[in-house]
Amino acid sequence: MVCALMDETGTLLEANAGFLRLIEAHSLADGRSNVARFFIQPNWKSLLKISGAADGEIYRGLLTLDDYMGKTRTLKAGVWHIHGQVRLVAEFDIAELEQLNDTVLGLNRSYALAEFALAQSNFKLETNARALEQSVSELQEANTQLSRMHNQLLQSEKLASIGILAAGVAHEINNPIGFVTSNFSTLKSYVYQLLTLVGAYEATDQLDLIEAMKTEIDLNWLKEDVVLLLDESQSGLDRVKHIVRSLNDFAKINDSEVCQPSDLHEGIECTLSVAWNKIKHQCELRKEYGELPAVMCVLPQINQVVLNLLTNAAQAIPGKGIVTIRTGHTADEVWIEISDTGQGMSPENIKHIFDPFYTTKPVGQGVGLGLPASLGIVERHHGRIDVQSECGNGSVFRVWLPLQQPTLST
Ligand SMILES: Nc1ncnc2c1ncn2[C@@H]1O[C@H](COP(=O)(O)OP(=O)(O)O)[C@@H](O)[C@H]1O
Ligand SMILES: [Mg+2]
Repeated sequence: MVCALMDETGTLLEANAGFLRLIEAHSLADGRSNVARFFIQPNWKSLLKISGAADGEIYRGLLTLDDYMGKTRTLKAGVWHIHGQVRLVAEFDIAELEQLNDTVLGLNRSYALAEFALAQSNFKLETNARALEQSVSELQEANTQLSRMHNQLLQSEKLASIGILAAGVAHEINNPIGFVTSNFSTLKSYVYQLLTLVGAYEATDQLDLIEAMKTEIDLNWLKEDVVLLLDESQSGLDRVKHIVRSLNDFAKINDSEVCQPSDLHEGIECTLSVAWNKIKHQCELRKEYGELPAVMCVLPQINQVVLNLLTNAAQAIPGKGIVTIRTGHTADEVWIEISDTGQGMSPENIKHIFDPFYTTKPVGQGVGLGLPASLGIVERHHGRIDVQSECGNGSVFRVWLPLQQPTLST
């Protein structure tokens, strides 16, 4: 707000701070209190001329003033002529407003520019974040692949060393076991014959000496115990024989068998006829056979795999349960699946089932070579074994074999 009171010559009588700031008050301090020279458009003279003689409003509109710096300023003003005095009331300094407007416009422009730059860097940031995410997931993927490869490496290292060991052990044990087993069965029949002979002596019942000896050696107990001991030793020998056979499969000592087009269903039936008698009282068997083309394989070895899986399935069933054999094929692979309704396995358990000598079964029931031996056979056929299992929910073992063998390493 600008207010000022002047006489007709333009001498300033009174003014507010706004007016004084405009013309710079201290330039008036030297006695030059006449402000007529500041009025540019309309100038002082014409302003007073407009008025004529009568009192009242003499001007309303834009008034251009010179300020103390020699810059012009335009005000929206009203001027009155009352009793020989001139009164000025002005509202806005338009130049200042325009300047302000310019400043605001300028600010707006910089704001818009800043916003644009911000949006640009935001976009760049987002792109970077996406790239970062991508590389993190690539890294994770590479990491899992690495640890998988590491596991595979460990596994194959273990298999290789155990294979060499197994080959030696199997070879060393096989021969003596052969003649001990054969000697043993002869021995068994000798003992039976001796016991029969003793029976005959007992029947004659003539000699007091015999009676005394019978008491001394506790013949009744001995007769029972000898048979028990023989049976127990026999089953021990059988077990060793079984271990040797597994080791043999595992270390591929039996390389006399040939790879030829085979009917897997025939193989499964043959295996069942051998194995089923042992396990049938404990499980119901279901067969869901699909169509199977002839598969290039060493059939007795595949039979061994099926036998191992069937035995495991039956052993996993605590009371009574179901074992199911399924078969099927894709364009270039066939599969045999053996599932059971048994106790299943924990994830920790599954990690180790292909480790040689890993078993969760009591001594005498498992030696932990069934699955590693089976995997050895399947891998030599360029196939794989998939396992799905949950604690308490049974297990599914699926053996995949290619229809054709590139070069079978028996
Ligand atoms: N069908 C199955 N259900 C539950 N556990 C199984 C099954 N098959 C294998 N396993 C687990 O894998 C282990 C290793 O099996 P395997 O190599 O055949 O040795 P073994 O039968 O002599 O223990 C078993 O001790 C058992 O813990
Ligand atoms: Mg087993």
